Amino acid sequence: MPLVHMKDMLGHAYRHAYAVGAFGVVTLDFLEAIIKAAENYRAPVILNLAESHFDYYDFDLLAPAAVAAARRARVPVAIHLDHGRSLESAERAIRCGFSGVMVDCSDQPFEDNLRLTREVATLAHASGVAVEAELGYVPGGEGENAENLSHEFEYTSHSEARVFVARTGVDCLAVSIGTVHGRMKGAPRLDYARLAKINEAVGIPLVIHGGSGLSDEQFRKLIANGVAKINYYTALSDLAVQHIRDNPGIGDNGYMALKRSIREAVRAEVERCIRLWGSGGRAAEVLEQCRPLNDGKASPDIRAIG
Ligand code: 13P
Repeated sequence: MPLVHMKDMLGHAYRHAYAVGAFGVVTLDFLEAIIKAAENYRAPVILNLAESHFDYYDFDLLAPAAVAAARRARVPVAIHLDHGRSLESAERAIRCGFSGVMVDCSDQPFEDNLRLTREVATLAHASGVAVEAELGYVPGGEGENAENLSHEFEYTSHSEARVFVARTGVDCLAVSIGTVHGRMKGAPRLDYARLAKINEAVGIPLVIHGGSGLSDEQFRKLIANGVAKINYYTALSDLAVQHIRDNPGIGDNGYMALKRSIREAVRAEVERCIRLWGSGGRAAEVLEQCRPLNDGKASPDIRAIG
């Protein structure tokens, strides 16, 4: 069943004040664990494949596996290109059957970010694929130490966000309000007043990058102010590494036992997020309101480009 339109999925979350988890997939074990957690809690879920990780696995192998897992899942699933940097990246993901693409030019001047985002939105929308862009700049790297930030924060302005959304037609917007990608010491300070203004200005689902390390209370306030998608990876990666360090004995039973125990650890953390973010038990309603995505075959518009 359910590889679904990400726009429909996020629209439901936004209207009903909960957030869908967009969990970083880097191996088959992560993929299986995330889907299992979503099925256990009857939750819609997003599989995030980040372009910055493509050096670490073979996209042409893992992406079709994600599509296959989504199709046979018992809950609605969206597959999303995270931090795509170009039109070509978006096109590749759409050809593969993804239901969402992010175009991240947030480190570029406003007009350049807007122009490329609009190009990607035109392409993606012609294929029924949702688009996320980022305005302002969320620093740091997924799975890395946030202390080594190479860029400063650039907070999202609500007036720029209004213009950006109107001129690009994006379906959801990643905002910079104090979170960072990667590992932090302590929880970051978040600017909820800024978030509320952005939400009022754009009226579309907002996205938080850098979900790892936030407190339960911070998540609740984010969701109350329009956040409908939360990106989460570093905590899962750290958990897997810690699990290997803490359980050297499991390796004595072989590689498969070690892999299974990592899957269990990742599944448990994803389930915790699902409970906290309110997406549990929503699968049936979401499915009713989501158009299924086409079968991943290229639409005529995409073929025209290739
Ligand atoms: P964390 O790795 O900090 O959880 O952030 C993930 C993310 O935002 C991916 O885009």
